[in-house]
Amino acid sequence: MLKEIWASKWVTNNGQFYKQLEKAMCEYLKVPYISIFTNGTLPLLTALQALRVTGEVITTPYSFVATTHSIWWNGCQPVFVDIKEDTCGIDPDRIEAAITPRTTAIMPVHCYGMPVDMEEIQTIADKYGLKVIYDAAHAFGVEVNGKSVLNAGDLATLSFHATKVYNTLEGGALVMHDEQTKKRIDYLKNFGFAGETEVVAPGINSKMDEVRSAYGLLNLKYVDKAIAKRQHVAQRYREALRDVPGVRFFDDLPNVRHNYIYFPIFVNAEEFGQTRDEVYFKMKDAGVLGRRYFYPLISSFSTYRGLPSANPVNLPVATRLANEVICLPMHHDLSDEDINRVLDFFVK
Ligand SMILES: Cc1ncc(COP(=O)(O)O)c(C=O)c1O
Repeated sequence: MLKEIWASKWVTNNGQFYKQLEKAMCEYLKVPYISIFTNGTLPLLTALQALRVTGEVITTPYSFVATTHSIWWNGCQPVFVDIKEDTCGIDPDRIEAAITPRTTAIMPVHCYGMPVDMEEIQTIADKYGLKVIYDAAHAFGVEVNGKSVLNAGDLATLSFHATKVYNTLEGGALVMHDEQTKKRIDYLKNFGFAGETEVVAPGINSKMDEVRSAYGLLNLKYVDKAIAKRQHVAQRYREALRDVPGVRFFDDLPNVRHNYIYFPIFVNAEEFGQTRDEVYFKMKDAGVLGRRYFYPLISSFSTYRGLPSANPVNLPVATRLANEVICLPMHHDLSDEDINRVLDFFVK
């Protein structure tokens, strides 16, 4: 493939491997249209721009900073709403109370690839005339009742960062429902160019190059195997942790195809006998790298903590879970020995 790219002298801007990747990705993900970006952050920025979102955007603080940053970059105000304990996604029952005359959109996150309540969110969005943009960075290949979660809402974004279950080293995408929206988004990720001499909007540069497109095409062949192996790791973790007091984790949800991108556990210090940080740093000192995703909450960073909705009193579930969570090491190449090394910190 590399030789072909050099020979063609076409290394970026909608090249042959890019086009193949778009097609293959639509088929794999069961979505009608996709536009592939150079990372998973710029699709969020571009989604808000494409839908002309203004004013306030409702989101959750329990995510990667890029979710809220994208709202800020568009000159909008993030409004934080608490999450549900069973998915770490936005709590639909708390959305209406956060809506004001300035609200124009909701940006929920399928955190850890756990699908949020898409129907309930859409009902609220329809009632108030709001747009819905899903940050589905973690939800590659996730399906509910055989349908991709990426088809919900107005737009959905993906990240193909190296740490994700499917990756193009760096990369991301926007999934849309119709050809016209795809065309506009393709313009927006190419500086707003709609032809050689016409610029229709202040777009950004987020075009995917040929080398990473080719890499992505190759990687797509292995993603099912990677997911199956991760499922095995998740099963091993679950079997061993099921009866450990003070350690909670997610089981598979009925009718959901999970992608096992992360394996978060929640440590209740009183029942487990150690705080999350005590066990986290013990692991770290021994070279076992868990991740405190997502701690601290986005709402506690200096840019956002002054917002009225950032008050921890408004966010009790997110605040508690951010202090309890550790994502255990998760990779399709983890050996049984590796898994046991991780479990030694939890199973006596
Ligand atoms: C929930 C979420 N949204 C957005 C992003 C941004 O993606 P990227 O790192 O590809 O820019 C990430 C990255 O990890 C993420 O976890």
